[in-house]
Amino acid sequence: MNGLWIAGNWKMNHSPSDTEAFFSTLKTLPSVARAGMRLSIFPPAVSLSAAKASAPAGYDIGSQSVHWEAKGAFTGEVSAAMLADIGVKLALVGHSERRQLFGETDEMTGKKVVALLKQGFEVMLCIGETREEREWNRTWSVLERQLEAGIPKEVDKTEVARLAIAYEPIWAIGTGLTATPAQAEEVHEDIRNYLKHRFRSAGENIPLLYGGSVTPDNALALLSQPTINGALVGGASLKPESWNGILQAAAKAS
Ligand code: PGA
Repeated sequence: MNGLWIAGNWKMNHSPSDTEAFFSTLKTLPSVARAGMRLSIFPPAVSLSAAKASAPAGYDIGSQSVHWEAKGAFTGEVSAAMLADIGVKLALVGHSERRQLFGETDEMTGKKVVALLKQGFEVMLCIGETREEREWNRTWSVLERQLEAGIPKEVDKTEVARLAIAYEPIWAIGTGLTATPAQAEEVHEDIRNYLKHRFRSAGENIPLLYGGSVTPDNALALLSQPTINGALVGGASLKPESWNGILQAAAKAS
């Protein structure tokens, strides 16, 4: 595994002009990222080109969602080929807001992962349990189901090299209730064991990111855990100062 991967999921925030303003302010702040660290932002689709044009060198800009078909009668959707046409080759799949608010099923998630990997994309598959599922001790069975369905059988070992997993407990997203480093570590160990068992050595190198109320204050403790390879950051990625604070914590942790 290389350095930490810090990714910002902007959700439905930051228009193209907000995106330019974000990056121009970021460029005035002290540069804290360490060599080897990987930095990504997932802006809304309409801001992808602005982000590509204004982000500092080395940032990977990714899409928050994608449709598995190449084109057709799918109102409101964007295909992988369209994203590739504007130079985007990275996408999130299966974010819990897609699953809970827009009815994205495990099966749809799997179709997206396959379509993206076959077209040379890097994919960050998001998985996570609800508060009730955790309380009923169903965390691992839910995550295992999401992994089985989200990485269908036709995904081969070379494609797995372009896959990352973001573990985002739903009870921690946007709630200020972060998983403790020990809770996150315990789940990451289970995910790593699953991936090693299923993909052998290829499963050892799949980046595992934690997401859910990551802030500049808790990032160091989370990112210092041996099985946490990065963070997927929502709210705290929206302001250049707090984003930079997370990068600073990541630099300390690496
Ligand atoms: P949050 O969101 O950091 O605001 O909790 C994380 C995410 O949904 O990816």
